[in-house]
Amino acid sequence: MSKSHVLHRSIAHRYPVATGGKGIHLYDSDGKAYIDASGGAAVSCLGHGHPDVLAAMHAQIDKLAFAHTSFFTTAPAEALGDDLIAHAPPGMDHVYFVSGGSEAIEAALKMARQYFVEKGEPQRRHFIARRQSYHGNTLGALAVGGNAWRRQQFAPLLMEAHHVSPCYEYRGRLPHETSRAYGERLVEEMKRKIEALGPDSVIAFVAETVGGATVGAIPPVEGYLKGVRELCDRYGILLILDEVMCGMGRTGTLHACEQDGVAPDLMAIAKGLGGGYVPVGAVLVGAKVFKAFETGSGLFQHGHTYIGHPLACAAALAVQHVIRRDDLLANVRRQGTRLADCLTERFGNHRHVGDIRGRGLFQAIELVLDRPSKAPFDPALKLHARVKAEAMARGLMVYPMGGTIDGVEGDHVLLAPPFIVDASDVDAIVARLGDAVDAAIASVAGRS
Ligand SMILES: Cc1ncc(COP(=O)(O)O)c(C=O)c1O
Repeated sequence: MSKSHVLHRSIAHRYPVATGGKGIHLYDSDGKAYIDASGGAAVSCLGHGHPDVLAAMHAQIDKLAFAHTSFFTTAPAEALGDDLIAHAPPGMDHVYFVSGGSEAIEAALKMARQYFVEKGEPQRRHFIARRQSYHGNTLGALAVGGNAWRRQQFAPLLMEAHHVSPCYEYRGRLPHETSRAYGERLVEEMKRKIEALGPDSVIAFVAETVGGATVGAIPPVEGYLKGVRELCDRYGILLILDEVMCGMGRTGTLHACEQDGVAPDLMAIAKGLGGGYVPVGAVLVGAKVFKAFETGSGLFQHGHTYIGHPLACAAALAVQHVIRRDDLLANVRRQGTRLADCLTERFGNHRHVGDIRGRGLFQAIELVLDRPSKAPFDPALKLHARVKAEAMARGLMVYPMGGTIDGVEGDHVLLAPPFIVDASDVDAIVARLGDAVDAAIASVAGRS
């Protein structure tokens, strides 16, 4: 390939050129097919080239591609707003559109701060979030995020944020502790943090409902999020749930928090909202936050050029219609169970797989050097990158990451296949992943 002028994610890496996609497959310029078992990064929930989504996008473009939101609203934005609120967790009644996950988190953080300014509590300035979380790469989102590696070199630029432990049962729960007691201990830790900061100085607690990119599909233990919600209510703090990755059906319900019986005050969504057909994200806004804006200054002091983009909204609406029309959440639950079972069959006794976890079609395996001690591989080996390369060589896209434990140590592989997978797709994914993991581990044998 001739010299590229694109500043790619990894400058030295030679990326294959993606030229097409159909269903669960992506194709490169050599005609090689890849099963997209990670939806990129948990994005492509309907797979690629879905005819109904493409038709909706074509129809919208022929009518209207863009109208700036300081002048107009549009039919697709209104329809998507209605659709999202009709299926939102209890208490949500407005939608603020953006163009991706980081923008959704930025908007949610500012909304939360403005809410307290409107309410006459301008002294509230602290966000509490969790270590080993990921909320995006813009400065506000990076500040609340708990990924040590991503934050490190930008730390001098980041606003102050406070971090408590993630709900990471495999490594956090003590040997003789029940799941419930572990969750209660985490809520107690959060309570101590709030009290140390001063309850009336805290704006919000920010958390991924199911931890994703940094740590690999860690669902909350039973009762944990309810405890978090109660704590937020007790201290008058907002709860911001980040469902950018785990939401919009990925875990088998439209919103992951439905399964925990919890509704946030603000919720960030993106990825599966538009399924990769368009850059789109949103904040679902709770009634009490909206009311404070409505009866206060009358606006949310924010905005970007492309918010509520008609093409993005039309595509997202089509994605959501297809998911409902084809009852794809039932398939997510069905195939999610199969995926978990197949992973257990293939890796349950694998000496280098310490944990298999997740919800729905959002599953991960954590790789360890030694199962009894849970010792990780030497991070210098970059085992996660080797798994990715071995998987790509076998025509499989998965989403491995390092730094699972603390931003430096640990490796996991995240799977987030499209909601349209069938049983044979799931079997093929796990078979190829098994070979890729074994090959990657063989390549580091004797070096760890
Ligand atoms: C939970 C979570 N929040 C926010 C983001 C940032 O989204 P984006 O990359 O669209 O800015 C991501 C991206 O992976 C994410 O997983």
